[in-house]
Amino acid sequence: MLDGKIRVMISAEEIDAKLAEMGRAITDDYQGKDLLMVGILKGAFMVMADLARHIELPVEFDFMAVSSYGASTKSSGVVRILKDLDSEIQGRHLLIVEDIIDSGLTLRYLMKSLRVRQPASLELAALLVKDGVERPATDIRYEGFRIPPEFVIGYGLDYAEKYRNLPYVGIVEG
Ligand code: IMP
Ligand code: MG
Repeated sequence: MLDGKIRVMISAEEIDAKLAEMGRAITDDYQGKDLLMVGILKGAFMVMADLARHIELPVEFDFMAVSSYGASTKSSGVVRILKDLDSEIQGRHLLIVEDIIDSGLTLRYLMKSLRVRQPASLELAALLVKDGVERPATDIRYEGFRIPPEFVIGYGLDYAEKYRNLPYVGIVEG
């Protein structure tokens, strides 16, 4: 468990307001398109569920699981696919949903391997993006919040697999 207190960085209300905004944009952009939302497990499960409720389209869902961190708090750059998609994606409009983009290494690998399968389009939605981090150019179509490059927990994000159930994004004070 973590020592120290957890401070709220982004409240549940702020998260919901932002997801409503993102959901409206997605609803506008994908009119008449066959949208498949792909959540990256485990972290994105909450964003996926709450964002989806703000999207007014006949959307389909799929999930992938990748591992990049292990129990460490730094990205290793080594990505393993633990669970692949169930769906064929050729010719479909894919929207990848991520909890957080830190180094962007996980995503770069993922987008590359998905592009090979020739989707009609491939876009990215992320609730959190860490500022001041050097990362390969990543085009984030739907971005929630920019946050400082610190380790955060809650709202899907874990520390050693715990704290994912916090309804807010928190930061640990030492
Ligand atoms: P990246 O490859 O460095 O961009 O990290 C991608 C993954 O690492 C995310 O999808 C998260 O699951 C995890 N991650 C990155 N930063 C944090 C954090 O501050 N708290 C918890 N998990 C994180
Ligand atoms: Mg994760």
